[in-house]
Amino acid sequence: MNLIDKIVSLTKRRGFVFVSSEIYGGLQASYDFGPLGVELKNNIKSFWWKKVVTEHPEVYPIDTAIILHPKVWEASGHLANFTDDLVECKKCHQRFKKDEINDTRCPVCSGELTPPRKFRTMFETYLGPVQGSENLVYLRPETAQGIFINFKNVYQTQRARIPFGIAQIGKSFRNEITVGNFIFRLREFEQMELEYFVKPEQADEFFEKWKKERMDWYIKMGFDSKHLRFREHSHEELAHYSKATVDIEYKFPWGWKEIEGIANRGDFDLKTHSKFSGEDLSFLDSQTGEKYIPYVIEPSAGLERIFLALLCEHYHEFPKGRSKQSSKSQPEVFLSLPWFLSPVKAAVLPLVKDAKLIKISQDIFKDLLKCWVVVYDEKGSIGRRYRRQDEIGTPYCLTVDFDTLKDNSVTIRDYKTMEQERVKIPEIKNYLEKKFILV
Ligand code: GAP
Repeated sequence: MNLIDKIVSLTKRRGFVFVSSEIYGGLQASYDFGPLGVELKNNIKSFWWKKVVTEHPEVYPIDTAIILHPKVWEASGHLANFTDDLVECKKCHQRFKKDEINDTRCPVCSGELTPPRKFRTMFETYLGPVQGSENLVYLRPETAQGIFINFKNVYQTQRARIPFGIAQIGKSFRNEITVGNFIFRLREFEQMELEYFVKPEQADEFFEKWKKERMDWYIKMGFDSKHLRFREHSHEELAHYSKATVDIEYKFPWGWKEIEGIANRGDFDLKTHSKFSGEDLSFLDSQTGEKYIPYVIEPSAGLERIFLALLCEHYHEFPKGRSKQSSKSQPEVFLSLPWFLSPVKAAVLPLVKDAKLIKISQDIFKDLLKCWVVVYDEKGSIGRRYRRQDEIGTPYCLTVDFDTLKDNSVTIRDYKTMEQERVKIPEIKNYLEKKFILV
């Protein structure tokens, strides 16, 4: 099995990711996130939020609608430019994105391909009960436009001064011609986007600043710097709105692929929305009297791609077991996620099914639930229960044994070192708090 198959298997087995609509045979490239997947996703989002919003008092959060006025997409250039070149095989009728196939023949059956035609990748729907062109609307292909059209609302209500940012996390939709590599390319996905408004002459400086901040964010999540790189877009590759774009790419098992784009969008968006809406979206500095359209620096990250990259980075398999002494017949899996991303922070395990040990374990479990996502597990051998937690990257396992009855202590096992420490029950919260150091 290759790494990606192993990850697909782990995520299904442990309830991170399920094929969507599975009982009806599944829907292509559509996935549901199960209990552990939701926790991991939320933890990635929280870490992004902490570093991009909370630690930046000049960044304001927003949550805009998925369906916007159709004029938004006319103004933004998406109606004209958000297209892919589609080619179709004349023999097997499979469709491909032209820039993803190297050959001039069909990669499946070697049949002749049609000349490329433009395919708009925005999903269409209708507002209200009448399905006429006057009611045609689109599901947003990026969250960014919701931010631009609220630029004035935010800066006026928050009395913001340049430089400042507006950030949002939310679903985006793209009717991709080709999908695949598990959750890498989806038609429905979540973006974490920041639009950072700066004086035009400071755009290059902030572009570099955000490149650094964003790369640091990945390193803090435990990525090896050798598995990440910046890739600058060539002039031909730039999106219609961009003056400069750099992708952050991760070395997936199938090659270097984009997980985040950082763009200098110039004044394109505010200018075009001013023109199409008739609303002046320039910024008036009330202190200096200066009036201008700011430039925008945009770090835009894809949640599911980061989720997948994290699993690739932190998945470890030990064919003969993790400890030196063990010689297991089954390989052991260990997910070395940093504690703040781990779906479960601690597991409480009575050594055996003894009424007294169960009672103490349950009390500890209930108490810890007030602070963190914690599980209680009494099923199977203690070794097997440790394995179950290692597989999902639970940082600490707390075992209640017969010594607990004498010394009022539990054994706490660290997931990375596998070292064990005795800790008094009233000290457990303190002990864990000290371990859970914020980065
Ligand atoms: N607002 C700018 C923007 O949307 P983008 O490079 O098209 O830029 C940003 O998208 C990020 O969104 C990408 O780096 C990627 O992580 C994620 N993304 C884009 N299309 C995706 C898809 N079909 N499936 C999953 N993630 C996607």
